Amino acid sequence: MSVIEQILLDVVVSSFPEVLSPTITLDTPPKKELGDFAFNVFPYAKVTRLAPPVIAEKIAKALQNHPKHFKDVSIMGGYVNFFLTNTSWMDLFGSLSTQSKPANNETVVVDYIGANAGKPLHIGHLCTPSIGQSIINTHEYLGYTVIGDSHFGDWGGIFGKLIYWWKYPHEYLSDSKPLSEEEYSLEKENRLLEKWVSYLMELYQLGFKIIADKDHMSVDEDSRKEFQYLSWIGIDLTNPEEKKHHEENVALWKKFTSISIAEVNKKLELINVQPKYNIGESFYEGLNLPRPNAEKYPNLQWNMKDIVKELIDLKVATQNDDGSVGVVFPEETKIPSCILQKKDGTGLYLTSDLAAIKYRMTNGWNPSKIIYCVDSRQQLHLKQAFTIARMAWPKELEKTELFHAFNGFIKLKEGAMSTRKGTVIFLSDLIDKGFELTKKILEDKGQSLSDTDIQAISIGAIKYSYLAQDREKDVVFDWDKALSFEGNSGPYIQYSYVRAKNIIDKAREIKKFESEKLNLSEYDRACLRRLSFFDKAVTDSATKYKPHILATYCYELASEFNAFYVHTPKILEEQDEDLRNFRLALIEKVSETLKKGFELLAIEMPERM
Ligand code: ARG
Repeated sequence: MSVIEQILLDVVVSSFPEVLSPTITLDTPPKKELGDFAFNVFPYAKVTRLAPPVIAEKIAKALQNHPKHFKDVSIMGGYVNFFLTNTSWMDLFGSLSTQSKPANNETVVVDYIGANAGKPLHIGHLCTPSIGQSIINTHEYLGYTVIGDSHFGDWGGIFGKLIYWWKYPHEYLSDSKPLSEEEYSLEKENRLLEKWVSYLMELYQLGFKIIADKDHMSVDEDSRKEFQYLSWIGIDLTNPEEKKHHEENVALWKKFTSISIAEVNKKLELINVQPKYNIGESFYEGLNLPRPNAEKYPNLQWNMKDIVKELIDLKVATQNDDGSVGVVFPEETKIPSCILQKKDGTGLYLTSDLAAIKYRMTNGWNPSKIIYCVDSRQQLHLKQAFTIARMAWPKELEKTELFHAFNGFIKLKEGAMSTRKGTVIFLSDLIDKGFELTKKILEDKGQSLSDTDIQAISIGAIKYSYLAQDREKDVVFDWDKALSFEGNSGPYIQYSYVRAKNIIDKAREIKKFESEKLNLSEYDRACLRRLSFFDKAVTDSATKYKPHILATYCYELASEFNAFYVHTPKILEEQDEDLRNFRLALIEKVSETLKKGFELLAIEMPERM
């Protein structure tokens, strides 16, 4: 904390002791003639029961006693405006830091990504993973322990189909002649390993195609049977044949799921998204399936059926006449009723989310918040899940926030991109196109960069253009705007970072400076002031679950740095050595802060541009 913040804190505490642990909120005044900073006193109005101008008046008076730090103190409505003395500016400079905060003993679970086995990522998978990763990174910066979990969709009838089409030779697999068993098996393995998920999807679509083409009933039935063997519904495990069949299917399930998770994570790595865990929906079935990867999360002591039973016992859920189980919500909540268990005893997506809440609350993680980064179409679904959980486990959830940080949709301005299939825009196609466009733009500027830098710029452009908008809104993605080197775009901020870094590299060494009689320009001060707002931007972004707050901050800092750059001639040749060294140190802080800001948004910085 800087000295001015400390003084403001002391003044508030001694003038208004009823305000317990006040936060100090500093802003930029609307006009530069008003001051260097505006101190907002509105937050204290409620507790003190005083009008903000009255509070401001009292604080302004108290600041008169600190001439060494504050100059020309004035009030405007609920704001105390003031200028800083040179001493305070230097102190503010010394207090700048982009270091993570010490651990705060709170755990946050972030449920994000929500990808499904056997299906490739599409443009929508830019949204929740990007938002979720930024919420994770900002919370970690603030000292929280964060557990990111992808709630992987790895269960359901699709596996019956995948297993069926995997096991039984069919002429559709190869475009050429029917294959012998041996050739078939080889082809299968090769294609699986080569094409990973796209092959799984091919298998899946093939399933549908053949079901539509051929002897519909028997294929459909056979796939269903395979799923039963996998989930051992109605299977006699004492019968060695049946047991073997079950084990085979479990092994195939593991193979498909491992491949899917690996492939999804490979793609997500490109956009800097890395979940700690991929705890699948299947996990909550309580079947003790092998873990598709080496992740070490605690075991489950019960299953979804136990949850349904518990909810019935707690009178939260009721058994219907047809044997299914559902929940009817209190009239005033206006939430439509829902089903938790079908009449055949199988659970639903909603049941898996209830199981996930219970698991996260009882497995030792002890989270103070569980944040769901899931798109806006699932608002009702999660509202139902949260309401049921609070009806069932009010005590356990008393100190836990359940929050749906929903996001809107992303569309391309140009409409559907030409893709391998219809209207779905695959994430990998978007990434490839971004790379080509970026390369071309750079070439037109006469620059040839490494592939790593081109990738950082193109993916940065895509991610930034999404993250810079309020997540609740739908976004129209526009390549020209995203890849522009001017205005509020990823490349503009990256360019500012590279520009700052180049100056530092050129200067080679930054010496200590004498701060007593430095004559700072308004541009020096504007940069320094913006740098001092970094922690507030991260905190607001994290606590409101809105990455665009941090994105906007990065843009403002980049803009102020560029204004400084344009209006400060010959930084490296400045004759006043102290001023030169101060400015170099300031530029270094700008580059560090832009880099940290982007790191928290999970966007990389290029080294050259
Ligand atoms: N796999 C789900 C889907 O495709 C999204 C999962 C979101 N997370 C959750 N806890 N429900 O719709």
